[in-house]
Amino acid sequence: MTTTTQTPTPTSVPALPEEVVTRTPVQDVALPGGAGTLALITLDNGHDHTRPNTFGPQGIAALTETVARVRARADAGEVQAVGITGKPFVFAVGADLSGIPYVVERGQATQIASAGHAAFASIIDLPVPTFAFVNGAAMGGGVEIALACDHRSISAGAAAFALPETFLGLVPGWGGCYLLPNLVGPAAALQVIVENPLSQNRMLKPKEVLGLGIADVLLEPADFLEDSLRWAAGVLTGTVPVQRADVDRDETAWDAACDAARKVVLAKTAGRAPGALRAVELVRAARTATREEAFASEDEALGDLIMSDELRAGLYAFDLVQKRAKRPAGAPDKALARPVTKVGVVGAGLMASQLALLFARRLGVPVVMTDLDEERVANGVGWVHSEVDALLAKRRVSPDKASFLKRLVTGSTSKDGFADANFVIEAVFEEMGVKQQVFAEVEAVVTPECVLATNTSSLSITEMASGLEHPERVVGFHFFNPVAVMPLLEIIPGAATDDAALATAFATGRTLGKTTIRVKDTASFVVNRLLGRFMGEFSRIVDEGTPVATADRAVAGLAPMPPFVLLGLVGPAIALHNSETLHRAFGDRFHVSPSLRRLVAAGKRGYYAMVDGRPVPDPEVLAMAEQPEQPVELTVEQARERILGVLAEEVGMMLSEGVVAAPMDLDLAMITGAGFQFWNGGLCPLLDREGVSERVLGRRLLPHGVASVPA
Ligand SMILES: NC(=O)c1ccc[n+]([C@@H]2O[C@H](COP(=O)([O-])OP(=O)(O)OC[C@H]3O[C@@H](n4cnc5c(N)ncnc54)[C@H](O)[C@@H]3O)[C@@H](O)[C@H]2O)c1
Repeated sequence: MTTTTQTPTPTSVPALPEEVVTRTPVQDVALPGGAGTLALITLDNGHDHTRPNTFGPQGIAALTETVARVRARADAGEVQAVGITGKPFVFAVGADLSGIPYVVERGQATQIASAGHAAFASIIDLPVPTFAFVNGAAMGGGVEIALACDHRSISAGAAAFALPETFLGLVPGWGGCYLLPNLVGPAAALQVIVENPLSQNRMLKPKEVLGLGIADVLLEPADFLEDSLRWAAGVLTGTVPVQRADVDRDETAWDAACDAARKVVLAKTAGRAPGALRAVELVRAARTATREEAFASEDEALGDLIMSDELRAGLYAFDLVQKRAKRPAGAPDKALARPVTKVGVVGAGLMASQLALLFARRLGVPVVMTDLDEERVANGVGWVHSEVDALLAKRRVSPDKASFLKRLVTGSTSKDGFADANFVIEAVFEEMGVKQQVFAEVEAVVTPECVLATNTSSLSITEMASGLEHPERVVGFHFFNPVAVMPLLEIIPGAATDDAALATAFATGRTLGKTTIRVKDTASFVVNRLLGRFMGEFSRIVDEGTPVATADRAVAGLAPMPPFVLLGLVGPAIALHNSETLHRAFGDRFHVSPSLRRLVAAGKRGYYAMVDGRPVPDPEVLAMAEQPEQPVELTVEQARERILGVLAEEVGMMLSEGVVAAPMDLDLAMITGAGFQFWNGGLCPLLDREGVSERVLGRRLLPHGVASVPA
């Protein structure tokens, strides 16, 4: 441990609006076994877990002062160790980013970076052993403050542990790119710093944090703090060994790990996410850099990235999922919502079974499933029960909860069980006639107030409701597969839908934990339409003669995976059905690929086949591909211009048709329903950033400064 401390001038950082300050009260704890006194710093912003601890300028200044006071006491021999822990359920989730949109000069950005560095460096420089007791969620700067300590315990109940900065368009810039590789080696560090964030922002489970060597010990949540203090006492007295694997500092191996991560980043983003590439280079330099050099490089990186449009788009996306998602545009007054005490699910297939499980888990009310015959009903109910068993095996539910959930979900071939239901959702075949028939049968059984919801992915809600006695209770309720994973729920009123039914749909969607967006009753709604246009143009370019690899590079970083990998995941038959539906509704601008038709007819599961766990183009599928007489081979740039161009055109049409209230809703839908990237702000900020919206529509979709650096 070195003995220098730097104290930032709190007034030198920009004042940010309404900072919820994380306080750092200190309490002396007499450690067992004569290990001495530990000064325990508790990070606590005074709110419950719904408002997690973050570090803004005032919080960082307060932390710096606290550490300086603790240091004086350590120097005086009054404390023998320092511990840092969080408030219930939350350790700390990183920098308070709410002020970044107000940062207009690079100097302000680097000040934010260096103030955090100075605070965390003062922890590293404490003259006594330091411990982080990671009791709950830790992200970004929350992980970095833990890395600044000598030792770490983590609770088995910690909900999340991650360095998500590159997901937003930043780098872990308060020491993460230096401290983590020096603790666990570059490969493990880069998994946490770039690969996980670029894989739909994957978080680590506490066991993985231990397995990677980031935490020294994993402790049960029940008595986490007491057990952590006992463990710390053991470490101090030498009765508890701390074992860490040596980091291989060989230059070749270190560089190879960085090169491999760089390759992953380039494959996923084609270099269009500046934060991820910058992070790889910071980790590369961390092998030989001094702490001062490394922290200075992180400051520079944050300065550049905070002033980048990618980060501003990332923050815009963050704001959409955090705030706009909670106040859906166009939702009627909540007070109009009717209670839902029993649910009916028509169909017991792929979607219906997932819906039954979700309703039972989230609403805790009886759910009755029906289908055409006993066998299908038994399969559906059986699937739900086996999923509950799997949750029990993973200890995600208690044995009591598991039997409760199983009792809630029952099935029958008769719809009589719907008589006292107040919410019935259908997920039968995607055919208008079948769905109209189903709703007519349901209407004969239920009360006039019972909401009839449809999981249709493309059909008209108005038409579906048209033959009913009470069409005002029908509403589109479009989930995405897999239901447990995809946050989006498109809610579509038909022409006759009344506010009570619509309010009930929004309230129910919220209780189900979904991001609800109001969508106009138009073919294929938002995500399937935009994704259909995207996949269609991609396929058209390939069918006309551009190699898949070129087309992939053109769109890398737009969707979470290359389009033909996504095709395999969605299922070729569903993708074909979607493109045919869109073609029928909107004409030739939606391409139906002859190659895809052949692939589906041949019963192929996708463009790629798995060989040794890796996807390679299936030679049989390649043999079915279109062979144009006069192939047109586009460059990466030309292909990108074409695909982004048609997306801008579709966005323009959807906005003028009033499919959603605002461009923000399109972005929120693409982020939560199709996994489009934060650092692109979903879609509209990207179209603005690359000048495509001005070229195609003659205007920006969002004003300067909303999802970009103010002009
Ligand atoms: N699969 C997806 O990815 C996905 C995603 C979003 C929405 N959807 C929509 O969900 C709906 C269902 O799709 P799925 O993939 O679950 O299909 P599926 O074929 O797995 O299930 C449909 C089920 O409905 C049953 N059924 C048909 N007619 C019925 C009737 N008259 N009464 C009772 N049950 C009947 C069938 O026996 C079958 O079990 C469709 O409207 C589809 O567009 C599907």
